[in-house]
Amino acid sequence: MKFGDLDWDRMWREARQAKTWRGRKKDDWDKRAPSFAKRNMHSVYAERFLALLRPDPSWSALDFGSGPGTLAIPLARQVRAVTAADFSTAMLAILDREATAAGLNNIRTVHASWEDDWRQLGIERHDLVIASRSLSVDNLRAALTRMDEWAAKRVVVSDRVGAGPFDPDVFAAVGRTLETGPDYIYTVNLLYQMGICATVDFIDLEQRRIFADRAEAIDSCRWMLDRISPTEETKLARHVDERLEPLPDGAVALSRRTPIRWAVISWHK
Ligand SMILES: C[S@@+](CC[C@H](N)C(=O)[O-])C[C@H]1O[C@@H](n2cnc3c(N)ncnc32)[C@H](O)[C@@H]1O
Repeated sequence: MKFGDLDWDRMWREARQAKTWRGRKKDDWDKRAPSFAKRNMHSVYAERFLALLRPDPSWSALDFGSGPGTLAIPLARQVRAVTAADFSTAMLAILDREATAAGLNNIRTVHASWEDDWRQLGIERHDLVIASRSLSVDNLRAALTRMDEWAAKRVVVSDRVGAGPFDPDVFAAVGRTLETGPDYIYTVNLLYQMGICATVDFIDLEQRRIFADRAEAIDSCRWMLDRISPTEETKLARHVDERLEPLPDGAVALSRRTPIRWAVISWHK
């Protein structure tokens, strides 16, 4: 077998078809926008991702799949201008609101998907192009090629390592199997075959997280399970209860056995 014979683009597609969690559509992200924003806007993940970015203050940045502005908002304080693009209008509405509240006037939001014609939507070339946890595409090569074309200086993409935020124990507790789909290693290998030697850094997140109450802790697991049945709901609650650690003032800590690890893949132009 030769390395060059491996078709990483096709393997990515096939691994996506084999995954046991349902890919989220625009409507799913619209619904999830408020809770996603609440948990991610001021997260350790965002802090560490930004620490790896170190952009030049004169740069313009395109944040594709920006969500509620997890990175676009703090990034706007560090660079000249930010374009935040996403196919979820609910995510972009939160981003606009947050930008106004923060007194930032250098962020432009664009309603766009990976599959759209970016030129027609007026998305021009930027110095920096990022896609954080948003490389949810069937055609990986096309998405990476596009990011590379749209960046003048640097591209930064983050993707799961293994299960990433999915907790295999949650799937097992409700009796589901977890096939996670492709992770970052497909991206790194495909980039290599495209002639791009990328740098890979890792962000490791805490296995123990604090929640305001038990309901919030259960919510933090429920998103993993598509179309959860009443029986599964009971099993999920039991699983969470077994791992909950009560804290003063009604808050709870929830620990998972597997760490959450993200890969941050970047290259210079
Ligand atoms: C996990 S969130 C990440 C948000 C943000 N980048 C972060 O790291 O917190 C994924 C985002 O990608 C967006 N997204 C998913 N598929 C997309 C597509 N095909 N086109 C545009 N945006 C997409 C979703 O709407 C969502 O806001």
